[in-house]
Amino acid sequence: MERTCLAIILAAGESTRMKSATSKVLHPVAGRPMISHVVDALASASISDVALVVGRDADAVSAAATTDEVAVTSFLQKERLGTAHAVLAAREAIAGGYDDVLVVFGDTPLITAAPLKAARDGLAAGNDVVVIGFQTADPTGYGRLIVKDGALVAIREHRDASAEELSITYCNGGLMAIDGRKALDLLDRIGNANAKGEYYLTDLVEIVRSLGGRAIAVEAPEEELTGCNTRAELAYIERLWQQRRRHELMLSGVSMIAPETVFLSWDTALAQDVLLEPNIVFGPGVRVESGAVIHAFSHLEGAHVRAGATVGPFARLRPGADLGAKSKVGNFCEVKNAEIGAGAKVNHLTYIGDAFVGAGSNIGAGTITCNYDGVNKHVTHIGANAFVGSNSSLVAPVSIGDGALVASGSVVTEDVPADAVAFGRARQEVKPGRAPILRERYEAEKAARKRARSAE
Ligand code: UD1
Ligand code: CA
Repeated sequence: MERTCLAIILAAGESTRMKSATSKVLHPVAGRPMISHVVDALASASISDVALVVGRDADAVSAAATTDEVAVTSFLQKERLGTAHAVLAAREAIAGGYDDVLVVFGDTPLITAAPLKAARDGLAAGNDVVVIGFQTADPTGYGRLIVKDGALVAIREHRDASAEELSITYCNGGLMAIDGRKALDLLDRIGNANAKGEYYLTDLVEIVRSLGGRAIAVEAPEEELTGCNTRAELAYIERLWQQRRRHELMLSGVSMIAPETVFLSWDTALAQDVLLEPNIVFGPGVRVESGAVIHAFSHLEGAHVRAGATVGPFARLRPGADLGAKSKVGNFCEVKNAEIGAGAKVNHLTYIGDAFVGAGSNIGAGTITCNYDGVNKHVTHIGANAFVGSNSSLVAPVSIGDGALVASGSVVTEDVPADAVAFGRARQEVKPGRAPILRERYEAEKAARKRARSAE
């Protein structure tokens, strides 16, 4: 029979070292709270029973940890008395009776399914406690794993470690699996006689051994266990996350000329044969289909770029931008809440907002949809194969029919029917021979000013 499992996520820590008014686990990595990444890892390891230990921002933290794939019960840790004390806040859940109890930290967002599975495998092999460790060049701040003859003997917190123990580079990753039938008895034995006066979960190792039980450490990649305690570590975790995701995307068939300059969101979906030029930022909710090219220095958020479309350089796609197959949105263009039809071109210096542009239409340079009257937003509807001349203002609500032509420089305030030509500008006047006369007048004015200055 498959072993049952309860995961306990500890997320009640203060943000003292983050120096933030917001709870640490709500700080975003790749645009979403770090705790959501932890929950995702649990789900991908097929763990669905989750006890969440929260402190301040309890409601927001619970919301960030709630997904369709897991059943989350929140427990409030009123005082912050250490990691063992935090685990015991979920006493009721542990008492529910599980084969495996898995403790994970809300501040290690790079964790994946593999070490979670490894920890559970260690329990299935007959150990009472399994700790996931990692080797690091800089063990500062981490608990050190003391291993003898294949057994984990103790975990020594940095503050409590001797000089000799401090030189150990094998560290506690904060992920611990405990025999679920013994967990409460073991946890209740933990005291707080240490440098911080806290109830350390890590003391479980020595306790289980003193009772004749077995603890082991299993090594996992350092990257997955990197914890976040400061903003500097948050930026480091972001960097690691970005590197990992770029790599996955490139292996799945996405080309990146300078991957280190592309910034992805947790949910950025890029199909095979998408090409990304340097310096591109993805906000949340972007989907790019096969064969599309995103040119340099573009910013995309909440946008759908369909097959073969091109974006940028220097384009901004805002939420609701939907670019049809083989359409083009070029340099210094902004598109918001607008559909650009298949093959349509919006190539230069244009704002298309709250609009619909039909297939094959051409929107000239400098065209602006005037969608906002200061109070309400209005829609601009442009049909298929229409042509809007450069530097036109389309004052919404307004519609331009299929095949219609708008003369450049027009301010369009009335609907233009299909196949009509609309001029919305002052007529040009031409005065033959007038230029030399004007120029003479300007020269005379300039000379007069110069005389006045030298007379002062
Ligand atoms: C902890 C481990 C250390 C390990 C490191 C890995 C202990 C005693 N130490 O140290 O061995 O190397 O993580 O990152 O376990 N929390 C609560 N309530 C509390 C205290 C903590 O919910 O009362 C939560 C925090 O929100 C955090 C996690 O537990 O998510 C770890 O706490 P933190 O204070 O960051 O522990 P470290 O000092 O990093
Ligand atoms: Ca930590």
